[in-house]
Amino acid sequence: MASFYSRFYWRIGFGSRLYDLLTPESYVESMRRLVECLPAGKNTIFLDAGCGSGGLINILKHRIQNGVYVGTDMLLEGLLSAQKKTDAGNISNNVYFAQADFTYSIPLKNNSVDIIIAHFSIYTVPQEKRGNIYREFRRLLREGGTLAVVEPLPEYSARRIVKDSIRRVSAKNEDIAAWIKKLFVYPLTYQFGLKFIERQLRNGVWLTSKSEVLCAELRENGFSVKHSEVVYADSATLVIAG
Ligand SMILES: C[S@@+](CC[C@H](N)C(=O)[O-])C[C@H]1O[C@@H](n2cnc3c(N)ncnc32)[C@H](O)[C@@H]1O
Repeated sequence: MASFYSRFYWRIGFGSRLYDLLTPESYVESMRRLVECLPAGKNTIFLDAGCGSGGLINILKHRIQNGVYVGTDMLLEGLLSAQKKTDAGNISNNVYFAQADFTYSIPLKNNSVDIIIAHFSIYTVPQEKRGNIYREFRRLLREGGTLAVVEPLPEYSARRIVKDSIRRVSAKNEDIAAWIKKLFVYPLTYQFGLKFIERQLRNGVWLTSKSEVLCAELRENGFSVKHSEVVYADSATLVIAG
């Protein structure tokens, strides 16, 4: 049962839209913070590697309007859900998707991308294949480009993420929405999403990295680290590298 759940976890989540519906506010905040840390500029070509259902698209929308967004993932269900998010906001002409396993190859030319984002997309890949991903990112990133990575910490805590998310939605003064999330949505987020991820991380099925280890890994793979900080209710590290 556990392996069936883990095999189909993202697929079912993206296809049923449960992934989007149950996304905790703290996770959205982690994406917002990542976007805030990106270098400014127009006509930027973004690669969202392991884009899932494209949660970043809404947050990046103002920059996609003057640039290009390419979302890649190995799961078609994610890409289809992401595609729907591009219908709103006049960005559909600036958005492309490709189904690709980034441990093998992403179908883009060398030095063709300004900013690569990997928000919680590397940690489910076995350690021995992570080097392949960084090699592919290096190949795609143009000189002076930016890589932004968010990966879970060993201190990942499902309980803390829910608590932080409740605090954040309550602070928005949207009382009814906050109560609905607190009473009906986040208990499901905790039970079916975060607790499962926490268990996978504790059992070593998916990988956590201490901040300094993640930075060292990026350096070993040819990137220079420009900034790192703890995000996602102290459960993940954001690294900006080049
Ligand atoms: C936790 S989801 C994150 C999705 C999205 N980045 C977000 O933050 O909402 C992890 C994503 O990484 C994708 N992924 C995992 N391994 C991959 C691989 N080898 N190649 C491409 N995508 C992969 C999964 O399919 C999934 O969509």
